[in-house]
Amino acid sequence: MKNILVTGGAGFIGSNFARTMLDKNPRYKITIIDHLGYAGDESTLGRLKRKINFVKGDIADLELIDILVGQNDTVVHFAAESHNDNSLKDPWPFVQSNIIGTYSILEAVRKHNKRLHHISTDEVFGDLELNDPRRFNEATPYNPSSPYSATKAGSDHLVRAWVRSFGVKATISNCSNNYGPYQHVEKFIPRQITNIISGIKPKLYGTGEQVRDWIHVDDHNSAVALILEKGKIGETYLIGADGERNNKDVIELILSIMGKNKNEYEHVKDRAGHDMRYAINSSKLQKELDWQPKFNNFEDGLKQTIEWYSNNQDWWQPQKAETEKKYKKAGQ
Ligand code: NAD
Ligand code: TYD
Repeated sequence: MKNILVTGGAGFIGSNFARTMLDKNPRYKITIIDHLGYAGDESTLGRLKRKINFVKGDIADLELIDILVGQNDTVVHFAAESHNDNSLKDPWPFVQSNIIGTYSILEAVRKHNKRLHHISTDEVFGDLELNDPRRFNEATPYNPSSPYSATKAGSDHLVRAWVRSFGVKATISNCSNNYGPYQHVEKFIPRQITNIISGIKPKLYGTGEQVRDWIHVDDHNSAVALILEKGKIGETYLIGADGERNNKDVIELILSIMGKNKNEYEHVKDRAGHDMRYAINSSKLQKELDWQPKFNNFEDGLKQTIEWYSNNQDWWQPQKAETEKKYKKAGQ
């Protein structure tokens, strides 16, 4: 693996992935394709831009993808519409990017016989009850709840069908909720941090008892790097770092790290169809590929993330006003 095409590399996880890979080995030749939608920003690439080849374009553009895939030996496919709340307002871009876009990648990978790793989410499995002793594993049936998770589930099914029917050399990973630098301020953790910095109260949907399984973005990406290196073609790996917390606890923790009173937040309208709990069992990844997360302590990862948002206001300020305007309109 030398020439890597990273789709969606101007977004949160993909840009961090490109950084991680170049830190591991500066000789990797990375090409990023991103259509620079609202969530993809050239400023996210920052100094990385000098070290990679950047192409502005849409993954659903079959001709462009055909050329780019032909020029690389490995494709790591992050590009997607990624926010549940947006998918409830307008599902079409989710169908377009997540399903048609993945189809386009698969056809090019099939034609050129290239290695593909498809990035997916644990949300394809639907949700668990709070008191359910089970966690998701590779055998959990798909049961997506939102247009976002349904389109991600659709993209996973396409990848599996292309592996089985056409012998495409692909792996899939389904990861839990990520946090860390460069995450768009529409998402839960950066929204609350940047609210506090901006003098706005953090916003908790509904009762806040919903549980997410948090993982630092660098741990997600170290797992992806390992799957590229040692993963078995056709296999799926679940990625998670035993980071279950309910939303109320996370808001209170952010407030207390930022020196505020724990109750200085407000409850807002709940999300329609709000998934109750996600939880990942990543023992396959740990046993078969010998993966371990580096951020074992959520509070330490959160402190690093809060520091990053405090020190990089120029990066997130341009997103903030528009994002809060949209939320306000939705009563959130
Ligand atoms: P993001 O929204 O920050 O980044 C996605 C990037 O893809 C953006 O830069 C966007 O411009 C680009 N993109 C979208 N549609 C495109 C298209 N049609 N053509 C070209 N570029 C396009 O999202 P993220 O959080 O970095 O998520 C990346 C991937 O990881 C997604 O596939 C998502 O489903 C998956 N994932 C995310 C999480 C999480 O917690 N954020 C967890 C598990 C899996
Ligand atoms: P989010 O970051 O949108 O990720 P996902 O929907 O993929 O889990 O939301 C994480 C959790 O936080 C989810 O239960 C919804 C909740 N949430 C809030 O309580 N307040 C907010 O302002 C946002 C954006 C999310």
